[in-house]
Amino acid sequence: MSETPRDPNPPEHDEWLPEEEQTTAEQLVEPAGSQVGVTHEPPPRGDDAEEYRWHTGMQRPTGQPDAVEFVDVHKAFGRNKILRGLNMGIPEGMISMILGPSGTGKSVCIKHMVGLLYPDEGDVLVHGESVPNMTDDELFAMRKKFGVLFQDGALFGSMNLYDNTAFPLRQHTDKSEDEIGEIVRRRLREVGLGESEDKMPNELSGGMRKRAGFARALVLDPDIVLFDEPDSGLDPVRTALLCELIQEIHEENGGAYTVITHDIMSARRVAEFICVLWKGRIVESGPAEELFNSDNAFVRQFLSGESQWPLGME
Ligand SMILES: Nc1ncnc2c1ncn2[C@@H]1O[C@H](COP(=O)(O)OP(=O)(O)OP(=O)(O)O)[C@@H](O)[C@H]1O
Ligand SMILES: [Mg+2]
Repeated sequence: MSETPRDPNPPEHDEWLPEEEQTTAEQLVEPAGSQVGVTHEPPPRGDDAEEYRWHTGMQRPTGQPDAVEFVDVHKAFGRNKILRGLNMGIPEGMISMILGPSGTGKSVCIKHMVGLLYPDEGDVLVHGESVPNMTDDELFAMRKKFGVLFQDGALFGSMNLYDNTAFPLRQHTDKSEDEIGEIVRRRLREVGLGESEDKMPNELSGGMRKRAGFARALVLDPDIVLFDEPDSGLDPVRTALLCELIQEIHEENGGAYTVITHDIMSARRVAEFICVLWKGRIVESGPAEELFNSDNAFVRQFLSGESQWPLGME
């Protein structure tokens, strides 16, 4: 069978990757880097560095095993260090949110989870399996566990909603068109687009495109669902409705949901677990109610949206 490991991802995302980041045969067989006995630079220093309780990656107070784990992950693009020893766990069975300022590497994290990017050092584990060490076939199989809503929605412009939503099923399963039709229509109805299956993406509002991307992310009944800013560009009412939809569908389907958002109201509404990312590491992670009562200055500032110290425009 001629399986290619990239095909769950729309072509625009292949283009997005610079050549050096594309999967090479060596990357698929060589370990991503030693994790044992490696010592890394301390967190980025500032006068206030002691304020931050850098996450050790050892204690995750959810009582749940992790569906996805980042173990001491380092990632740089040229001289631009993005992940600097990231230890992050995404617990099974919960809606988790990854929060953090623009440009901290949240989308880069998502791409590591599905093997679109590889760590320079450290490891990324999905259900305990090392993603950078997977063979092409293993990677292909692993990606079936994921439903991904990329930041830009990433519908295929040349396909109507029905075909967009059917795409993963046609590509990853041997289901008949009848079976595919049943699943696609159910998922489109669930997100309120039952009447719009013939529409082309450019005929839809931003909110409808998000919902369509959501329907498409769910058709393979994924164990792990990743949403990269599902609420960006939506008005507050649509955002609230989308949050409700995420909760409803999570309740029904279960699994590890990971939502990246800048919207603190969304986080308050749906997050059960929160990871706050800054400068390539976790500042704090834990159950949502603990994070909202954190005494960490950065977490407090970020979760309350205040403009005062320590986070500035740099
Ligand atoms: N393939 C790439 N090549 C070079 N630089 C990249 C690449 N992907 C991401 N970056 C850089 O990595 C940094 C983190 O990007 P990322 O998209 O993960 O940020 P983010 O936290 O998702 O931000 P936002 O909240 O604005 O979406 C940015 O400086 C970005 O320019
Ligand atoms: Mg992003």
